Amino acid sequence: MALEEIALAFWFLLPAYAANPMAVVFGGGTPIDFGRSLRDGHRVLGDGKTWRGLAGGVASGLLLGILLTLLGSFLSPRLAFGDWPGVLRVLVILPVGALLGDLAGAFVKRRLGKVRGERAPGLDQYDFLLGTLLFLLLLERDWWFLRYWTGDAIFGLAFIILITPALHRVVNVIGYRWGHKREPW
Ligand code: CTP
Ligand code: MG
Repeated sequence: MALEEIALAFWFLLPAYAANPMAVVFGGGTPIDFGRSLRDGHRVLGDGKTWRGLAGGVASGLLLGILLTLLGSFLSPRLAFGDWPGVLRVLVILPVGALLGDLAGAFVKRRLGKVRGERAPGLDQYDFLLGTLLFLLLLERDWWFLRYWTGDAIFGLAFIILITPALHRVVNVIGYRWGHKREPW
């Protein structure tokens, strides 16, 4: 059923979705590009991408994934992320894909001459999802897409793609209100 596929798509992508807001919570300190700029005069990534944010985001996504795996195997086989210890691979790939997608988005923004925090419609909302899906396709093709693939799985993916900008917005407004984010986008 389509509704079930949508819920499953959400469930399996939660470790990726959690990575970015947790990078915001843990972020600060030394920037990943160590303050360096490219020859175009713009920063490689900018001060909004830090080692602490990256490490905190990956660790949080992994931890959430471990909790969901334990919970899932307890609740229903369909909610299982995989078998131990191999499942750890995909639990790392999910947040890493999301955060590297976010870094790639920042790299593109800087090349476009946009400063940290400046809006880049489309990129801001989708960079992490693109990173996640690309990483899954490259490194874990058998997981989710193929393992759980039924004709209806396409609904899950389509819904994820449609709902992501709204979800991104909601999470960022919350982050902004809590004082973690400098801009509500
Ligand atoms: N953050 C971080 N390290 C990361 C990702 C995010 O420290 N790898 C923190 C930064 O404090 C950043 C905040 O999370 O300012 C919000 O993230 P995001 O909106 O992705 O960054 P922006 O500040 O908007 O910068 P950019 O224009 O590069 O997207
Ligand atoms: Mg931003």
